[in-house]
Amino acid sequence: MFGNFAEGELAATAAVGYTSKFPSSRHKMVIWGVFTSPRYRRQGLSRQVVESAIQHAFSNGVNRVNLQVYVPNEPALGLYKSIGFVEYGVEPSAVYLDGQYHDGVLMTLVKKQATFKKVRC
Ligand SMILES: CC(C)(COP(=O)(O)OP(=O)(O)OC[C@H]1O[C@@H](n2cnc3c(N)ncnc32)[C@H](O)[C@@H]1OP(=O)(O)O)[C@@H](O)C(=O)NCCC(=O)NCCS
Repeated sequence: MFGNFAEGELAATAAVGYTSKFPSSRHKMVIWGVFTSPRYRRQGLSRQVVESAIQHAFSNGVNRVNLQVYVPNEPALGLYKSIGFVEYGVEPSAVYLDGQYHDGVLMTLVKKQATFKKVRC
């Protein structure tokens, strides 16, 4: 789990982890827990923690990071696409929130296509 602090409080988070304990899945991780407190948004805090989390995955032998975004969510899609994530599918009605179904866009990032703005490789 990675965190970014502002004014002494936790303002942004991101985490990466394996999806399975089996060796056949040790080449990939998922990123989850991506969130920035509303009053600290658009200050680059999420990009920093997301890039740090992905870099951590890549430096631990992983060559692919996957995620799912419930849509609509232009901020998250914009962030992930700018790093190099591409869409590879959609889970219809992935979640039911506040009386509505939302699709889940599946995205994947391969190490050689990652572009980092804040965290150096
Ligand atoms: C998505 C989220 C984490 C972005 O956090 P943030 O700290 O505001 O993001 P940053 O300031 O680091 O911006 C990084 C990039 O995200 C994209 N982005 C962020 N806010 C955006 C917005 N309102 N509209 C379009 N793109 C946006 C941009 O590509 C931006 O890069 P740029 O500033 O170089 O243009 C934040 O909006 C959030 O917490 N949303 C609710 C939780 C959520 O949806 N999490 C993702 C689950 S998959």
